[in-house]
Amino acid sequence: MTKYVIHGGKPLYGEINISGAKNAAVAIIPAALLVDGVCRIENIPQISDVTLILNILQELGADVRTVNRTTVDIDCSHIRNGRVPEELARRIRASYYLIGALLGRFGQAQVPPPGGCDFGGRPIDQHIKGFVAMGAQVDVHGGYIHAAAKNGRMQGTQVYLDIVSVGATMNIMLSAALAKGMTVIENAAKEPHVVDLANFLNCMGADIMGAGTDVIKIRGVDRLTGGFYSIIPDQIEAGTYMAAAAAAGGEVLVKNVIPKHLECITAKLLEMGVEVEEQDDAVLVRRTGPLSRTNVKTLPYPGFPTDMQPQIAAVLCLAEGTSVLTEGVWDNRYRYVDEFRRMGAQIQVDGKIAVIEGVGRLTGARVHACDLRAGAAMVIAGLAAQGTTEISCIHHIERGYEDIVRKLSGVGADIRVVITPEEDKQAKIG
Ligand code: EPZ
Repeated sequence: MTKYVIHGGKPLYGEINISGAKNAAVAIIPAALLVDGVCRIENIPQISDVTLILNILQELGADVRTVNRTTVDIDCSHIRNGRVPEELARRIRASYYLIGALLGRFGQAQVPPPGGCDFGGRPIDQHIKGFVAMGAQVDVHGGYIHAAAKNGRMQGTQVYLDIVSVGATMNIMLSAALAKGMTVIENAAKEPHVVDLANFLNCMGADIMGAGTDVIKIRGVDRLTGGFYSIIPDQIEAGTYMAAAAAAGGEVLVKNVIPKHLECITAKLLEMGVEVEEQDDAVLVRRTGPLSRTNVKTLPYPGFPTDMQPQIAAVLCLAEGTSVLTEGVWDNRYRYVDEFRRMGAQIQVDGKIAVIEGVGRLTGARVHACDLRAGAAMVIAGLAAQGTTEISCIHHIERGYEDIVRKLSGVGADIRVVITPEEDKQAKIG
């Protein structure tokens, strides 16, 4: 059992390099299943979700070779259409991309229902609606989702998504790249990772237009061949460090980013009195004075990202005045609020709305990371708080943040990974 121990209250100064985007990587790696040849994928983040999805591909027979720390070669030429192993697939949300990728490649898929962070119900009915419209039969039995295309190949068609869903948009794109004819996704998600997946598939020979708008057209091709691709920088990792600099104060250059992807976050930090200077592939975040209150509503891109909601809440706790936070994507993404209250935060939650009374100063406490972004928010709160914060359940954080302790230590944070002797002894006994 490991935890992060943070001695907070120190401003941050220096530079942080952003890794490749988790939510792009976990779709692009399964997309390699569609390719007949070697895909060299660069800027892969070193996080446990990526390790898991690579392991699943290997279990299916893919040849995965590490070229260097951030580059892998994936060759799925000799893959078999096996069942996706349950114990791996249930540990990650993105395992649902294997349904679209296997349907595209083999016309059939057997994948367990996905796992991932708990924000209330996380249905995949829109993914299934798309597969069914494209001629697949989908049913669930024996703990697996079984999907099979009529005549062994997906058929292009028009799919209107009732809800803007990142996962459904990307999954339908995966199943359509090798389909017969044209697939049109209407009311598609526009997140940067949707565009990144389309760019990856196009690099491998697909014919996809309109990614980044709400209508995506995919003309099915007969074959995808190998090639090189570099994953975009992680919008949410960058936003998390921007929020950390805003909360703790100081001056941090967040490097290797696409500033356009960060505009929704930059806009809110500016409203709060934080200075943000956009450079070509970096943003400089400086906070010296007090933080002002503001209101934030999460929405699909280009709105403020739900995956930054807990982190911005940490900053709002320190602002002067009352802020209103509205969660516009998930039903239940405030489970972390009790942990913040242990640190002195004043937050009232009613359904999708959180009212945050700024307290100016948080105090260190023992808290746990209830999920990935909530864990990141605990780190931010701990960096700003007076005293010592201990964060447990850090495996959630390590699912999505590469080297978070090293990156924060590099800008002067006092954060360490600690293995507690009692828990260690218990772990050995257990
Ligand atoms: C992706 O999840 C991300 N995960 C999430 O990031 C992110 O919070 C979310 O998109 C929204 O941006 C990955 O990319 C692996 P959705 P996804 O389908 O695709 C409803 C993180 O912290 N919905 O866009 O599963 C759904 O309930 C993670 O990195 C349906 O009703 O999200 C939600 O209210 C957490 N039916 C909304 O749509 C469906 O079939 C958006 O979900 C699909 C979704």
